[in-house]
Amino acid sequence: MGKKFFIKTFGCQMNFNDSERIKGMLRGMGYEPTDNWEEADLILLNTCTIREKPDQKVLSHIGEYRKVKERNPQALIAVSGCLAQRAGWELVQKAPSIDLMFSSFNMHHLPELINQAQAGYKAIAILDAPPQDEDRIWEFPTERDNPYCAYVTVIKGCDKNCTYCVVPRTRGKERSRTLGSILEEVRRLADDGVREIHLLGQNVTAWGKDLDRPMPFSELLYRVSEIDGVERIRFTTGHPTDLSDDIVEAMADIPQVCNALHLPFQAGSDRILRLMDRGYTKEFYLERIHRLKEAVPDIALSTDIIVGFPTETDEDFEHTLDVVRQVEFEQIFSFKFSPRPGTPALQMEDQIPDEVKTQRMSRLLNLQKSIMSKLSARYENSLQEVLVEEDKGGKLIGRTTTNKWVSFEGDRGLLGKIVRVRISKASPFNLEGELMEVVR
Ligand code: SAH
Ligand code: SF4
Ligand code: F3S
Repeated sequence: MGKKFFIKTFGCQMNFNDSERIKGMLRGMGYEPTDNWEEADLILLNTCTIREKPDQKVLSHIGEYRKVKERNPQALIAVSGCLAQRAGWELVQKAPSIDLMFSSFNMHHLPELINQAQAGYKAIAILDAPPQDEDRIWEFPTERDNPYCAYVTVIKGCDKNCTYCVVPRTRGKERSRTLGSILEEVRRLADDGVREIHLLGQNVTAWGKDLDRPMPFSELLYRVSEIDGVERIRFTTGHPTDLSDDIVEAMADIPQVCNALHLPFQAGSDRILRLMDRGYTKEFYLERIHRLKEAVPDIALSTDIIVGFPTETDEDFEHTLDVVRQVEFEQIFSFKFSPRPGTPALQMEDQIPDEVKTQRMSRLLNLQKSIMSKLSARYENSLQEVLVEEDKGGKLIGRTTTNKWVSFEGDRGLLGKIVRVRISKASPFNLEGELMEVVR
């Protein structure tokens, strides 16, 4: 009987892409995936530590998964990702059933770590910084669920040091992947039938600055768009200060780049933005958005917002609401400020009580609700190009270039094609329509 693995992933798209890579590695080692952790020989939790909640979730999952050893004493429990990097041995003390541990720095060492753990050692490999040979990770294939859309990580780490954020500690300094390595993976994916490439990085727009021959991110967009078979390009997450005019122009100029951008602003008050060390003002952010909307008129914007950063007053918060009102995002992801170990914001005075965070959050969500109904009404009767991704019980579903899900009747032979759909019903989270024609 072959061995089986079960992976549970928390956190951001980069972590999902890391899990896809780990799945590819495990396949190469002869493991088969299973959806049932109780029958797994290796259970891996790829963790996130961005806020307190994900930390707690990981611990409660380990508590449950360790029961796997009652029936199969040889089974291994592994923890990877950002919580592993941040907490290291402290986590093993809290959860002694962990057999092996690594982070995004040393995923490529997984085969050796599994061997050590199978030999009965605790294989806890948490490094202070990424090792010299970390680029070996790109030699491993990824295993994806979606045959038509693929993530490609192009830069790791973050140099920004926002005062609330653990990412620079858990993912290290910015390291751009070389152009050659990225294009090679994109070519392979396109040959494999992938139509949409989603470039990833904690601060993706900073790509290229640290390469031996520095290159702007806009150049990467052009080079990826030249690859045969790539119909769509997305990228996440851009940082407002790195979203230079050449990137905006490339977005307008390259037909494959989708009309959507996730651009976190976090807070509207200049005083709070300074305390967060975000490196821009409300006016600067709004100017970038203005420039984007001018260049790409039908662009769909989304953002991240932190509510209740230390010292945030009602007046500060009004500026956050004001940005939301002015920009009209299609989607917002809002989070209550969560103090993180090792970050400057943890020590700041005037932490905001939870009730106040809850109140502000609900005002924000109410405002967003009204904006979303207004924006979704604009889709009614419009024609949209949709990349057909899935056949869900007779209905085809796919996304518009603005990243909205659309469902419509059609033949499953259309999977992987771009089709034109007339929207008949629009609600804030999804659209329904009728198939008009196959575009390509
Ligand atoms: N690199 C991206 C964000 C990565 S983290 C960027 O700079 O925009 C994803 C989101 O989590 C952030 O945008 C922020 O809104 C939220 N976040 C990060 N740290 C947080 C904290 N300590 N408390 C609450 N939300 C946080
Ligand atoms: Fe965190 Fe700021 Fe870097 Fe984003 S830019 S990952 S919020 S430090
Ligand atoms: Fe979480 Fe790490 Fe991503 S902390 S959000 S998994 S970079």
